[in-house]
Amino acid sequence: MHIQFSQSRPQGARLIAHVVDKGKLPAATNAAMRAGAQAARFKGNAGQTFDGFVEEAGEVARLALAGAGDRNDEARFANLEKAGAALAGKYQSSGDKNLVLDLSESDLSAVEVAHVLLGLRLRNWRYDVYRTKMKDDQKITLEGVTVVGAPQGMEAAWADGAALAEGVEFTRELVTEPANILYPESFVERCQERFEGTGAELIVLDEAEMEKLGMGSLLGVGQGSSRDSRILAIRWNGGGGEAPIAFVGKGVTFDTGGISIKPGPGMEDMKWDMGGAGAVAGGMLALVKRKAKANVVGVMGLVENMPDGNAQRPGDVVKSMSGQTIEILNTDAEGRLVLADALHWTQVEFKPSRIVDFATLTGAIIVSLGHEYAGLFSNDDKLSKDLAEAGEAVGDKVWRMPLDKAYDKLIDSPIADMKNIGGKGAGSITAAQFLQRFIADGTPWAHIDIAGMAWSEKQGRTWDKGATGYGVRLIDRLVADTAES
Ligand code: BES
Ligand code: MN
Ligand code: ZN
Repeated sequence: MHIQFSQSRPQGARLIAHVVDKGKLPAATNAAMRAGAQAARFKGNAGQTFDGFVEEAGEVARLALAGAGDRNDEARFANLEKAGAALAGKYQSSGDKNLVLDLSESDLSAVEVAHVLLGLRLRNWRYDVYRTKMKDDQKITLEGVTVVGAPQGMEAAWADGAALAEGVEFTRELVTEPANILYPESFVERCQERFEGTGAELIVLDEAEMEKLGMGSLLGVGQGSSRDSRILAIRWNGGGGEAPIAFVGKGVTFDTGGISIKPGPGMEDMKWDMGGAGAVAGGMLALVKRKAKANVVGVMGLVENMPDGNAQRPGDVVKSMSGQTIEILNTDAEGRLVLADALHWTQVEFKPSRIVDFATLTGAIIVSLGHEYAGLFSNDDKLSKDLAEAGEAVGDKVWRMPLDKAYDKLIDSPIADMKNIGGKGAGSITAAQFLQRFIADGTPWAHIDIAGMAWSEKQGRTWDKGATGYGVRLIDRLVADTAES
């Protein structure tokens, strides 16, 4: 979506929108619009809309009002995003190509307007590339927004917003792509295309290199697939000489469960089992596009988990890069196996100051937290607090769950150093304990289980059904608040 700023209303504008604080219709609103808004009980609540047609200087235009709620509401930014999102939701297939956002009577700050635009752009995103028979009135027609009368500092404020939107959109695209199109190698290629010319450095490990490094844990997951596994690292050195902050993502491009195969109904959902890697790729894109003043590295473990004559069996014992051995009791608990080597390699290769991993790791976290909060597990109170605050600020919320020696014991194995599943209970925690065994003592680390967050069955604040882009804004905000001066 193209967003531009202009001093005056473009000639022949047909769709003109105002953002309205609760109870505050623009002074110039004519009597008919006022009566209409009142009859429709439009009050300016966040995300509420009302429209009508007005005649000005002989031309008829559609005038849209989008509510932003009470201006003192503590969720002000989220409300402004809702206002923008409501406009996109309502007019994206209206036939109009351009929406004029008229701020000439508004006293919104540049940062506030940037949130309106972010909501508008994010909600307007949809992935229609495989829909060849869509009727004209179903297609997205809205292509651009012209902002008229923007406050001082608008272009700078929106530059960061646009970078963030690009990151979220990239994550959604990766998560939405089906697994016959997006597999480890093509995931890497898409990133190579997107990061071309940005100044980020991409490092790719193929299977031979991973073999040499001893990544038996990650490679074991991919060995039943005809697709080769990969590790992708995206490095951005926008800071000084300090150690980087590392983000690590689970990138299982499809999870059948392997030999411990999943039931058929709903298995198609497992195309988004790369949502952690998707969040890391999009988060890095957002940081790189706004040239974040920080050193950051994003590492993605990319594999496909398939059953096959060569697939890993329950009972197999594999050796991870860390030297620790793992008894595979369930080939469907594969994400932790991928992350074990990705996390270890990240520490050896980049010596990060702290690590945050994102993974659609367990169905159990959906039992615990549903689709409102991601599960946060951490060995560090400061990092936990930083993540919780960043998440609250941008709407990518996290809720801390416990780690404890008593849970750790549950993954001891009689034949190897550990097994890849615990007992019946606390499935998300034993998964996190497993990951912690691959984190060096003293390294601040957090694991975010996003199984309930990467995809949504219903429309949300800034997304329609489908890939949410969860994690991108959390990554961006954590870096902004804690790594940039
Ligand atoms: N990718 C799944 C977790 C998942 C489930 C994500 C539902 C999103 C929605 C993961 O690889 C998995 O299969 N986990 C198992 C672990 C179990 C075998 C210990 C699970 O959650 O059932
Ligand atoms: Mn699985
Ligand atoms: Zn999985």
